[in-house]
Amino acid sequence: MDFHSSAFGEGFHWGVSSSAYQTEGASLEDGKGSSIWDSFTAQPGRIYGSQNANTATSFFHRYIQDIILMQYLNIRNFRFSLAWSRILPEGKGRPNEKGIEFYDRLIDFCLEQNIDPWVTLYHWDLPQSLEDKGGWTNRDIVHWFSDYVELCVRKFGDRVSNWIVLNEPVVFTGGGYFLGIHAPGRKGLSSFLPAVHHAALCQATGGKVIRSMNSSLRVGTSFSCSPVDPADESRSSAEAAARVDVITNRLFVEPLLGLGYPWADLKVLQQLEKYMYPGDEELLAFDMDFIGLQNYTREVVRYSPVIPYINAAIVKPSRRNVPVTSMDWEVYPEGIYRMLKRFQSCAPQTQLIITENGAAFPDVVTNGHVHDENRIDFYRSYLKQVLRAKREGVNIGGYFAWSFTDNFEWAEGYRPRFGLVYVDYATQKRIVKDSGFWYKQFLEKHPEAVLAHR
Ligand code: FCB
Repeated sequence: MDFHSSAFGEGFHWGVSSSAYQTEGASLEDGKGSSIWDSFTAQPGRIYGSQNANTATSFFHRYIQDIILMQYLNIRNFRFSLAWSRILPEGKGRPNEKGIEFYDRLIDFCLEQNIDPWVTLYHWDLPQSLEDKGGWTNRDIVHWFSDYVELCVRKFGDRVSNWIVLNEPVVFTGGGYFLGIHAPGRKGLSSFLPAVHHAALCQATGGKVIRSMNSSLRVGTSFSCSPVDPADESRSSAEAAARVDVITNRLFVEPLLGLGYPWADLKVLQQLEKYMYPGDEELLAFDMDFIGLQNYTREVVRYSPVIPYINAAIVKPSRRNVPVTSMDWEVYPEGIYRMLKRFQSCAPQTQLIITENGAAFPDVVTNGHVHDENRIDFYRSYLKQVLRAKREGVNIGGYFAWSFTDNFEWAEGYRPRFGLVYVDYATQKRIVKDSGFWYKQFLEKHPEAVLAHR
C-alpha cells in the first residue's frame, strides 16, 4: 500500500459522514413529525424519478448492522445528523421521547463499538410545522433553533463531544429558498435573503448555546466550498468569478468571523440590511473550535448578462473536457488543497476538518463485488492534496468520507451512489465496495501487518 493514514499523524480523526433524511427512513415512525423534505418529495416532479426517502437505507432499523460494518472497516468516527422533527415533531414544544431514545441507542452503540459520534444539528430537514410558520424566513427560528439545540445538548452532551451546528447553509438557503430545487421549494430574493440572515444568526447562536451549556464540548459548523475560476483571461470573467465566489465561499463564513456580510463585493446582498436589527453584526460572530470544510469539485464561470444579480454562468464540466463524476462535478483534487489554504489564511486560529469529501460513480455489482477503481483514485488523489496542505502547516484535524453507504441524494434521488458501501435498495443488502476495502486498509492501525499480507 503506497499511501497510509499514518502519514497524517497521531490524533487525526478519520471517519465517514451521513445525514438523517438521506439514510434513516422511518419517516413517520415512532412519533416523528413531518419535515420539509417529506413534503417536498411528495410533490410530483420535484425529485428524479419521483423518489422519496420514506425508507432510504432504513438506517433507523439497521443502524446496528451498519455500525458493526463501520467498525469492521476500521472507521473510528461517524458523523450523522439528528432529525429535528424526530426529536420535536412540531419543531418546538413537546419532545418525542421515542425519537430521543433512538438517538440514545445509536450514540450508545457507536461508543460501545469504539466509534466516536459527531453530531450535525441541522442537515436540511426542517420540521414542516415550522416551515408553515415561515421556516427560515421567520426570525423566530433563532429561538426555535436555540431551544432545539439546548434540548439536544442536554440529552446527548454527556456522550457526544463534537457538535456541528449547520450543514452547508448556502446550499439549503440557495437551493431551498432561492432556486426552489430543494425543500421547501421557495424562490426569489424575498425568501432567500431573510433565510440567509436567520441561518447565519442560528449558526452563531447555536454555537453559543452549546458552549454556554458545556465549555468542554467541541463546537463547529460545516461549509460547502469550491474554488471558483474564470473560464478565460477576460476581465469580465474574472469579475464574474469573484461574484460567484462571494456566494460559494464567503457568505456565511465572513459574518461568523466577525467580518460582516461580503456585500461590498456583491451589491444585491446589501438588501440583507432590511432584515437586520441593531446589534445583529455581533450576534453573527462566534469563535468555533473547528470549521468543517466540504469540498467535492470546483466551478468555472464566465460573464453572463442574462443571469440576474450575479451576471455569471457556470461552464459545465461536461463542456470542458475534464474528468467528471455522476453528478457532472469535475474531479479536481487540487481544489481541496486550495480551500484548506484559503480557510487557513482567513481563520488561522481555527482547526479545519474535512467533514465531507467523496464521489458518485455509476457502480455495478459483478458477482457480488463492486470494483470502483475510479472512487479509490478519487479518494487517493484528494487525500494526497489534504496531506500536502497539512505538511505546509495547515491546522487540519480530520477527514470524513461522504458517504458510508449509498443514500438518497436529494433532488437526484437514488441515482448517484456516493457510498463506500453499496446498497441494494430492493433488499437493503449492503455490499462493501472495493473503495470500502481500500479505506479499511488505509485506516488499518498497523500498516506493517497490511504490507505483510500483500
Ligand atoms: C453535500 C451534502 C450532502 C451530500 C453531498 C453529496 O452538499 O451536504 O448531504 O448530498 O453533498
